[in-house]
Amino acid sequence: MSHSQEKVDASRAGAGAVAAPGGASFPAGFDWWTLLMDHEYLVNPYPELKKIRELGGVHEDPATGIYFVTRYREFNQMAKTTQMGRDTRFWANGWNSPENKVRDPQTYELFTEFQPQMINANAPDHRRMRGVYDKAFRPGDMARYIPLIEQECRQLLDTLPTNAPFDFMTAFGNPLPHLISLKLFDIPAEMGEPIGKWIAALSWLGNVVMTPEQKREAQVAQREFKDFVRDHLAARAKDPGDGLISLSLAAAAEGTMNEEETLNNVVMLISGSRTSLTLLGNGLITLLKHPDEFAKLRANRGLMRRAIEEMLRFEPGSSLIPRAAIHDFQCGGVRIPAGALAIGLVGAINRDPERFDDPDVFDITRNPNPHSAFGGGAHVCIGKALARMTGEIAFNALMDRFESIELAGDPVWWTDRSDQRGLESLPLKLA
Ligand code: HEM
Repeated sequence: MSHSQEKVDASRAGAGAVAAPGGASFPAGFDWWTLLMDHEYLVNPYPELKKIRELGGVHEDPATGIYFVTRYREFNQMAKTTQMGRDTRFWANGWNSPENKVRDPQTYELFTEFQPQMINANAPDHRRMRGVYDKAFRPGDMARYIPLIEQECRQLLDTLPTNAPFDFMTAFGNPLPHLISLKLFDIPAEMGEPIGKWIAALSWLGNVVMTPEQKREAQVAQREFKDFVRDHLAARAKDPGDGLISLSLAAAAEGTMNEEETLNNVVMLISGSRTSLTLLGNGLITLLKHPDEFAKLRANRGLMRRAIEEMLRFEPGSSLIPRAAIHDFQCGGVRIPAGALAIGLVGAINRDPERFDDPDVFDITRNPNPHSAFGGGAHVCIGKALARMTGEIAFNALMDRFESIELAGDPVWWTDRSDQRGLESLPLKLA
């Protein structure tokens, strides 16, 4: 179903239109969630995001009271201010509201169990939990895992067919980050399948709009995943090693994190692999659609780091980044009131012409490239060094191994969710 009639038309300012800062307007009754879940939009969101961004940096959705942030400057103000945070209990009309607790106890229970962890915490609890893992995830400490990532990468490359079409996501893009995160937490390979299912079910918690079925599955997944992590940590108590397990056990033993916080944080750190797969798929399809840039990268691997940043800017895997206002916050000429939810639309922010020259051009030499694919402020992605390393190693290994990497059909984008942008399939032929 196409919703083109309801889509944004910057040139239309008719009766009943909703005024936007800058004098332009949205069509009357403009429905944000209809747009954000529209098939055509999800296949290629950038034309609509451009129109919305041109109408202003911060937009209130009168129907839901949610504020959508589409410009770089405003997003970074929102990400960095202490007036806003990621604790969604501050969202007055959200899952934690007294009305919702009565009306929809299932959602209330689901999010209550998901809540205690760094990604959902404001200062000072956020700092307390993030501090447990922060150093371990910095590039210097993460570098110890390079041999492990290279090995996982090699083993998967060995399984890829040559001169025959196959799906890159199924064979490489999806499994690589998953296998790496299992190794980081010393999880036996046979747990890969159930954990993959739990991660997929839990991933819907970021989508704001969930079906009752997705909520049920997420709740079961959350409980089973936490039970597994509890047993896994207990089994390693006598031999914790010197990695992420020992940090988790020490924090729990010292009381830095309680049990629920420990389990939720470990679950989230393992689940981070889901977003890394988007870098592999979105990055590769972008290179394939820009053969000149791909050839430039093959010819000069010294450009790999910049190329990865440009992939993250151009086709970010996280599409929606939320904040809940603790106090009123003035941003882009709009007052975001205490209790409101605000959502950064990363696809728009990363192509803001005020910050990026020729934003719709994929340029692997772009520098500086201060994109927001990893968010910003205190909550900026803790796994970003790991994701970058994974991308760098994977793209180098693919190019080392294969002289020719070609599309073998049309790629298929996810069109069932608005919070993440990734590929369902990427048909490829290697030689
Ligand atoms: C390309 C890959 C990835 C992308 C695009 C990505 C994106 C993001 C974004 C947008 C945020 C929210 C930042 C904000 O609110 O400002 C975030 C937070 C987070 N990410 Fe990632 N992520 C990736 C990989 C990973 C990996 C591999 C891990 C696991 C180690 C991970 C774990 C986390 C955690 C735990 C947080 C919460 C941090 C906090 O609240 O302090 N991410 N990520």
